[in-house]
Amino acid sequence: MLSDKVLAELNEQLNREMYSAYLYMAMSAHAKNAGLNGFANWFMVQYHEEMFHAMKIYEYIQQQGGKVELKAIQQPPADFESPLDMFKKTLAHEQFITRSLNNLMETAIAEKDHATQIFLQWYITEQVEEEDNDNEIIHQLEMIQDHPHGLMMIDRELGSRAAHVPTDFSKGLEAAEAPAA
Ligand code: FEO
Repeated sequence: MLSDKVLAELNEQLNREMYSAYLYMAMSAHAKNAGLNGFANWFMVQYHEEMFHAMKIYEYIQQQGGKVELKAIQQPPADFESPLDMFKKTLAHEQFITRSLNNLMETAIAEKDHATQIFLQWYITEQVEEEDNDNEIIHQLEMIQDHPHGLMMIDRELGSRAAHVPTDFSKGLEAAEAPAA
């Protein structure tokens, strides 16, 4: 069972994960237009990760008998100055998400909601990895300082990233997460 407060914040977090997906989709589109197909791939994989994060919350609210409330998704920016700008904005956004999850955890603790605390642990661990990945790519981009050859190499590396999360939720999250037969 979810308290009204925890439910409201979970629905808010669901919206933030959807916005995250939208933001990375916008970055993927921008990178594609700039001819940076590897960056476009990386951000599209990130889009899928965020959709998975959103779906996990969606499923959890329903499992707990709560009401999913879908709110309007904010419009993301369409233009970015450079690949470095995109990754700096990605890191800033992920830091915002980390703070948001920390606040949600505080609420779950205050409400003595142990199930939600356990549920949120996965997200909090995931944030450490996300911020670490962003920092690493920012570091690489700062080292090459827009040098075309270096940029090409990073683009190639980011092009090899593959989605390791389910992407088809037509039969629900559990079926999507089940290993393929
Ligand atoms: Fe859903 Fe990028 O954290």
